[in-house]
Amino acid sequence: MQNILDQLEERRKIARLGGGQQRIDTQHKKGKLTARERVDLLLDEGSFEEFDMFVDHKCTDFGMADKKIPGDGVVTGWGKVNGRIIYLFAKDFTVFGGSLSETHAKKIQKVQDMALRNRAPVIGLFDAGGARIQEGVAALGGYGEVFKRNVEASGVIPQISLIMGPCAGGDVYSPAMTDFIFMVKDTSYMFVTGPDVVKTVTNETVTAEELGGASVHAVKSSVVDGAFENDVEALLQLRRFIDFLPASNLVPAPQFPATDSITRLDNAMDTLIPDNANQPYDMKELIYSVIDDEDFFEIQEKHAPNIITGFGRIEGKTVGFVANQPMALAGVLDSNASRKAARFIRFCDCFSIPIVSFIDVPGFLPGTDQEYGGLIKHGAKLLFAYAEATVPLISVITRKSYGGAYDVMSSKHIGGDINYAWPSAEIAVMGAKGAVEIIFRQDIGDDEKIAEHITDYEQRFCSPFVAAERGYIDDVIMPHSTRRRIANALNLLANKKVETPWRKHDNIPL
Ligand code: HXC
Repeated sequence: MQNILDQLEERRKIARLGGGQQRIDTQHKKGKLTARERVDLLLDEGSFEEFDMFVDHKCTDFGMADKKIPGDGVVTGWGKVNGRIIYLFAKDFTVFGGSLSETHAKKIQKVQDMALRNRAPVIGLFDAGGARIQEGVAALGGYGEVFKRNVEASGVIPQISLIMGPCAGGDVYSPAMTDFIFMVKDTSYMFVTGPDVVKTVTNETVTAEELGGASVHAVKSSVVDGAFENDVEALLQLRRFIDFLPASNLVPAPQFPATDSITRLDNAMDTLIPDNANQPYDMKELIYSVIDDEDFFEIQEKHAPNIITGFGRIEGKTVGFVANQPMALAGVLDSNASRKAARFIRFCDCFSIPIVSFIDVPGFLPGTDQEYGGLIKHGAKLLFAYAEATVPLISVITRKSYGGAYDVMSSKHIGGDINYAWPSAEIAVMGAKGAVEIIFRQDIGDDEKIAEHITDYEQRFCSPFVAAERGYIDDVIMPHSTRRRIANALNLLANKKVETPWRKHDNIPL
């Protein structure tokens, strides 16, 4: 018997070595951890239960019959993050560059199936070169099966991808269909085809970082939702992130002990809005003032900073925040901001996370650049996302809320449940100067008359009261009491239920 036990231990030891010590050393030299080291860091100590450690590939072409490595390039299983079950797979770059074979794909599919059946999040740690070239269509088929499962699980269980090395082909497309993608700076890249292929096809010379580093995807392309300094930081932040999310669309996000009183007032909010209407201020100060213990997990911080999206908690419960940021482009809505916020809102709605919106928006960004880029359709995504959301929608207009952007940003008219405004709010079709120059065009040139019209317009419309008189704003609130008012509104809406007519699915303007 002892002999058999020893043999098992020996087989495990070989499997744990993946592609061998030399490749592990190379991985470390590149500043990357191995798949197993990553799993250990992500999960609660001792909680990992591995599946399929002894699986190997069935390929015989290109001399592959002699190159079998148990586990076949992916570590799969389940474990716990702060006591809650997650399913995971971690690509092992030391084994054929983490590339996906038919059997490697089956290991991932098993985890995806179990996660969906048991309603728990699935996390993928990616460090892999796509389809295993030696396997051809068998590998492509394997990816297809993974992609299909990504889609089936979408909106049912959270799916999160962490990119931790060079990733190509299927190893970027599968993440692209998950809810959130994070990257590690300087050691991870995402591209459909790598720099060598780019050079061959388009004759462009480009580095991996320029083509698909975090500096591209977290800032320009918006493919990823955040980037971290190194593997350790990324994995620890992923643990923190998972704490904000429910296990599935059937259960609420975990509730943490409320350590921060909801009756806490913040007098600093009474002076957040500058006297000069054109001066910016940092909307994040309001978010930090309202959430528990200033614990905010921002999504897409570096992309479209004119809108802020992220998760915080109020009374220990997860809330999604969407906020115009006057510090960037005066908080205007452009195509990027609209797409960013729309996707965030839809995630919150899938998983029953209430949405709080802080509004200071001068409108949609005018110009050919935006119009040619499809601002109408991108803006419509945001409008659609808010209007279809059935989770509690609470909003606070802090300053400007002009034009179409007023309607779009969680207004009462498209389903806002509780709509508050600060006394400094200005709700109008547009700013006073622009409005007067249109409706009193005949007086342009007469500075005195124009100034008079502007004052009239400002007095009439640059306040929250015209909207409040119609009930579009439920109350004009003291800025210092914003946290308490939002917490009360969240409690009020805790059992919100909305019936929508039967349909297969809606048709959001993609
Ligand atoms: C088999 C692969 C591989 C692959 C890498 N390797 N990618 N083996 N299939 N797809 C192996 C290498 O042969 C090497 O083996 C080891 O992994 C490490 O690779 P290196 O090239 O030495 O590493 P690095 O220089 O860091 O470059 C990493 C890389 C590059 C950028 C990922 O390997 C690369 O470009 N690979 C090919 C990417 C690709 O085009 N994949 C197919 C995509 S198509 P040894 O033995 O030397 O350690 C696809 C279709 C899906 O995925 C469908 C999408 C819709």
